[in-house]
Amino acid sequence: MKLTIVSAVTTLLTLAGLAATSGTPDPKAPGLTYLYTVNITGGDAATVGPGPRGTRIVVPILNGTFSGPKFGKGKVLPLGGDWELIDANNPNGSLTIDVRQTFQTNDGAVIQVFETGATQTDGTAHVRLTYETGSQKYYWVNSIVAIGIIRPLPSPPGSLTIDAWQMKTPS
Ligand SMILES: *[C@@H]1O[C@H](CO)[C@@H](O)[C@H](O)[C@H]1NC(C)=O
Ligand SMILES: *[C@@H]1O[C@H](CO)[C@@H](O)[C@H](O)[C@H]1NC(C)=O
Ligand SMILES: *[C@@H]1O[C@H](CO)[C@@H](O)[C@H](O)[C@H]1NC(C)=O
Repeated sequence: MKLTIVSAVTTLLTLAGLAATSGTPDPKAPGLTYLYTVNITGGDAATVGPGPRGTRIVVPILNGTFSGPKFGKGKVLPLGGDWELIDANNPNGSLTIDVRQTFQTNDGAVIQVFETGATQTDGTAHVRLTYETGSQKYYWVNSIVAIGIIRPLPSPPGSLTIDAWQMKTPS
């Protein structure tokens, strides 16, 4: 089985190499499947201070809730946070974000979420998301490629919302 996968991947890479040199690329954009929306409230920040890459600020997660067609409903455990960086080279106050969230689904699974990205000039932040779980029901999340958009929420103070999507191979 393993050998079959390896040779299939090798074949794909060979085909990709041929396509790249053929001079007639016609790539289709991948699709996106909506995963969930999560609302999170952060607590008091601790400023680590200016370092070589910028000013590190740690914001803990107090609570949160998520809901969506793929993850069902659940809560964000009061763990983790955002280890954000006010960039050393800081055009327009740009932040690099590095978030850990721990999801608990209403059907009892625990899913660890890793999220990195950067603020955009439109007031949102764009993130790449990876997931880890031992739950058999949600095991598929270990191998997906996902992205999200973060927006601030008006209330409660320190809260934000993140919409997340999974990449889908074009047909
Ligand atoms: C989350 O924590 C904030 C701050 O303590 C509080 O205002 C809010 O009601 C909490 N939300 C939930 C869903 O528990
Ligand atoms: C997130 O907050 C918005 C605005 O308060 C609300 O409409 C939405 O239902 C919330 N979603 C979740 C998953 O908590
Ligand atoms: C800073 O913001 C201005 C106005 O939105 C934009 O034109 C410019 O490209 C931004 N600079 C960077 C480096 O993002």
